[in-house]
Amino acid sequence: MGTYLVTGGAGFIGTNFVRHLLDHTEHRVIVLDALTYAGNKASLEGLPADRVSLVVGNVCDADLVDRLVADSDVVVHFAAESHNDNSLNDPSPFIQTNLVGTFTLLQAVRKHDKRYHHISTDEVYGDLELDDPERFHETTPYNPSSPYSSSKAGSDLLVRAWVRSFGVRATISNCSNNYGPFQHVEKFIPRQVTNLIDGVRPKLYGAGQNVRDWIHVDDHNAAVLRIIESGRLGETYLIGADGEKNNKDVIELILQLMGQPADAYDHVNDRPGHDMRYAIDSTKLRTELGWQPRFRDFEAGLAATIDWYRANEAWWRPMKEATEAKYARTGQ
Ligand code: NAD
Ligand code: DAU
Repeated sequence: MGTYLVTGGAGFIGTNFVRHLLDHTEHRVIVLDALTYAGNKASLEGLPADRVSLVVGNVCDADLVDRLVADSDVVVHFAAESHNDNSLNDPSPFIQTNLVGTFTLLQAVRKHDKRYHHISTDEVYGDLELDDPERFHETTPYNPSSPYSSSKAGSDLLVRAWVRSFGVRATISNCSNNYGPFQHVEKFIPRQVTNLIDGVRPKLYGAGQNVRDWIHVDDHNAAVLRIIESGRLGETYLIGADGEKNNKDVIELILQLMGQPADAYDHVNDRPGHDMRYAIDSTKLRTELGWQPRFRDFEAGLAATIDWYRANEAWWRPMKEATEAKYARTGQ
């Protein structure tokens, strides 16, 4: 039994990871989270106080990070500015949190010789053409497109340098698009689901041919824990569940599951520099560490996610108006 420091544990994937740790291990958890617009204290409500504590603070605060890392056995770094559209409107917090925050954590784990796992994204590899037979794998060259993805790419490279130059005991995982409970309503799936609950038509960027490789958040988190427990130090593992779908098909499926005509959505302004397709080859994770996704039926996982948003309006309602006001300014 040990102590896990989970940065960004009040965000979407982080809060699901904390729950995964509680359900599958005996570890204690310290969450370090700045509770930005994307962090939500309510996402940690009801968790056992003898195993989970929340420290409200910034990953760029070197003194605080140093103290918390000293008190932990394993550091799992989820905290980030995570939304591409926001990074196009104002890149500065992305540079600060994603680059300086990662640097701050790396200096602390180096000083205290702690095990570190870095959460990253498939977006660092850029995008693929729709008809490209290739998928991303661990040796695909980095080629990020947006301020968000380039800041994540930079953070990955910092980790690799700290491994090689200072012997930091770290692993990196790059995952595809997650869906599931507790995701902020700015993101694609929760935005459309909560729009429909409000009687507003879903919004599709451009023609909607862009493909994302969907994975349930619990499958992502199970893979992360497997990598921390059994992964080889210094290695990168790609996490994906063979879930490629284009945005138009996903919107039509949401409409169908919510009892609406399949064409009851609006086309809105496209995202500048919009990546066309992501696709993950997770052979290394599957063969080396024996991980397999449990959520293989996207329609069933999506239906359960829609039910979660229907049942948890009190959780998402406070963020909805400000989120839509932001989109209105860019015609999205
Ligand atoms: P999120 O935006 O829902 O949560 C981010 C959390 O980090 C929030 O709780 C926020 O308050 C916190 N945070 C932000 N800046 C901070 C700072 N300076 N100090 C402390 N806390 C801060 O994001 P998410 O979707 O849960 O993503 C988590 C991680 O997973 C990110 O690193 C992201 O790049 C990565 N990732 C996300 C996806 C996805 O589909 N969502 C896929 C692959 C990788
Ligand atoms: O691939 C992993 C990445 O997935 C993570 O690193 C990011 O943190 C996460 O936000 C996600 O990035 P995307 O940009 O792919 O996710 P988003 O939910 O913003 O959009 C998914 C797709 O849907 C994308 O092609 C844009 C489109 N879209 C999005 C919104 C919000 C729409 O068509 N309409 C919308 O209203």
